[in-house]
Amino acid sequence: MDTHLSADERANLLLKSLTLDEKIQLLHGTGDPHDGPADPLARDANGGSGYVPGLPEKGIPGLQIVDSASGVCYSAGSGRYSTALPSNIAAASSWDTDLAERYGAMVGHELRDLGYNMTLGGGVNLTREPRDGRTFEYEGEDPLLAGTMVGHLIRGVQSTHVIGHIKHFAVNDQESGRHAVSSEISERAMRETDLLAFQIGIGVGQPGAVMCAYNRVNGDYACENDFLLKTVLKDEWKFPGFVISDWLATHSTAKASHAGLDQEQPGNVFFGSALKLAVEHGEVRQAEVDDHARRVLRSMFAAGVVDDPPIKQVPDVFAHARLAREVAQKSIVLLRNENALLPLDAARAQRILVVGQNANKGMISGGGSAQVDPPGGNAIAPLPAGNHKQDWQKAVWFPDAPLASIQQAAPAAQVSFDDGTDAARAARAAAGADVVLVYAYQYAAEGIDLATLALPDEQDALIASVAKANPHTVVLLETGGPVLMPWIDQVGGVLETWFSGTAGADAIADVLFGKVNPSAKLPITFPVHDADLPHPKLVLPPPASQEDWSDEAKMSRKLLSGLPSFTTSYDEGLQVGYGWYDQQGKSVLFPFGFGLSYTSFTYSSLSITGKDTLRATFTLNNVGTRSGDEIAQVYVGLPKATGEPPKRLVGWAKIHLEVGKQAQVTVDLPKTRFMIWDTAQHRWAIAAGQYAIEVGPDSRRPALQANVSLSAE
Ligand code: BGC
Repeated sequence: MDTHLSADERANLLLKSLTLDEKIQLLHGTGDPHDGPADPLARDANGGSGYVPGLPEKGIPGLQIVDSASGVCYSAGSGRYSTALPSNIAAASSWDTDLAERYGAMVGHELRDLGYNMTLGGGVNLTREPRDGRTFEYEGEDPLLAGTMVGHLIRGVQSTHVIGHIKHFAVNDQESGRHAVSSEISERAMRETDLLAFQIGIGVGQPGAVMCAYNRVNGDYACENDFLLKTVLKDEWKFPGFVISDWLATHSTAKASHAGLDQEQPGNVFFGSALKLAVEHGEVRQAEVDDHARRVLRSMFAAGVVDDPPIKQVPDVFAHARLAREVAQKSIVLLRNENALLPLDAARAQRILVVGQNANKGMISGGGSAQVDPPGGNAIAPLPAGNHKQDWQKAVWFPDAPLASIQQAAPAAQVSFDDGTDAARAARAAAGADVVLVYAYQYAAEGIDLATLALPDEQDALIASVAKANPHTVVLLETGGPVLMPWIDQVGGVLETWFSGTAGADAIADVLFGKVNPSAKLPITFPVHDADLPHPKLVLPPPASQEDWSDEAKMSRKLLSGLPSFTTSYDEGLQVGYGWYDQQGKSVLFPFGFGLSYTSFTYSSLSITGKDTLRATFTLNNVGTRSGDEIAQVYVGLPKATGEPPKRLVGWAKIHLEVGKQAQVTVDLPKTRFMIWDTAQHRWAIAAGQYAIEVGPDSRRPALQANVSLSAE
């Protein structure tokens, strides 16, 4: 308890005083608090996702663990409240690291208010497959952007003395057959893309825990994968915290322990008495168990959960609602704005037609373990079966009605509503309006991949017919990731609003009526067709590897013993996201990094200086008529011989500029961002040659270019 000692010293001292049973108690959960009568040791569980009893006589609190990707989950069950921030992909669209820290800190404060000391947030699986049902829980397709943003989210959470967490390690890129699939991928591709996002996120955020994933990677389950957990995470990256299994993702005792799994969740099938037996039989060394326990304790000391335990209280609801609105404002991406249709004039007496199923009731959110319970409950009854497999996957609409927000934002307007269920009727109403706002949705949830990126429920036909009747149609997309837009040329405007959280509807109105000048940019490419994806068809599991939850207990046993493996070959390799479209020369609907503003910026005078850290300096001008923020991006094309995709993001800056003002902008480009993984030498390397640097507003419109030549390193 001597706070002058380091977390490592404190963990080591404490460890010396623990019995084998006490150590093993730290290495597993006591059952999912949702699953009813649990282990008697779980009597103090707070009702989250998991619980590890503490050692009260040693001053060590239990781990109260709960999902909280964008807000604390499962608050409704205990009659409590939590704020839903826009989903993680939305936060990434802000490219704003300070905002990400405030986002994380808000989640951390609410975790504490609700009695938790550990999050299960921090999803950073790189989007190789945008139909992945959890795309909304991640930060897009670029390792530098995703890793940096998640790192700052984690930093924010941990600043409140809550244990931070990053997941799902690794290459957990599809939900279909997630307990059975083996992600097949080359070492170089993995190192430079999926693993790099984790490496950066862990470096920036220093989370106390890493969650290993459900899937296999190159044959071995992620939670007993020696290469991932031991070689990469613990030996090379020197990760000092603990590896926690995803829920029911542990499949062995000795193999998992040797590979580096430290804690089984949510129960103790492999890391309870089975682990003790393995120690007694000499299959697992005592020193290995010590290392597992030391890591758990170290993370507790390092995060501050021992010295500053949470105290339950009512969250600061109002301040957090304001932050939710600010995050949404800064994450809404303006994708199209023909003839400056937007912003609308709030003071004008105009006829505004709001169209959309449920647009008079609420806004949709992302489902699964990231689901935050809305205040007042679901705004609509859950959709009938077919749309979801289980209760925890049902679509939840926040009672945050776009119609009411528009009425409030435009008091002089005559606002009417059509639910969009009859496209012809909606088109007739549209013909008589000055402007039409269509709220379109695409539900996404953990455990269910999308069959297609197309909007569901015939919304494409609805949008097309409304836009035909009135070209002043603006589409507001409530989606977890990219969608197809066959009607794009017919509409006047499009805003990607993501799953926008507690205050989404008001934030959208703020952007529509120009109270806020949009500045967000896409962290993910929007392709034209499904057929343009690296895998035009989603890889589905064979029947034997599919989950069937009709009998939960049976299914849990099946998962623990392992479902028959099938593979997804990530043979596109390094070509993730824009790397794929650029390399294949494919047109896209909207490129990575894209986003419009109500003002315009020009770029000039690029120079590159520096040696170990290169430095791009250029001038940015606001030549439009409003003040605004620009996210200026720096890409590099590596020498051809490296076999890399045409360009990669190496840095960015977000700059605020008043009308008519200019700024000299400097973006640091550390050498590590120019490296490739040399598989033969087993190290990062710089290839000798010419590097083409581009600076501009997105990945496909270079405004400035320069070449630098680097020697081999
Ligand atoms: C999910 C994790 C989550 C865990 C606990 C799993 O099904 O994959 O992301 O943290 O459940 O709820």
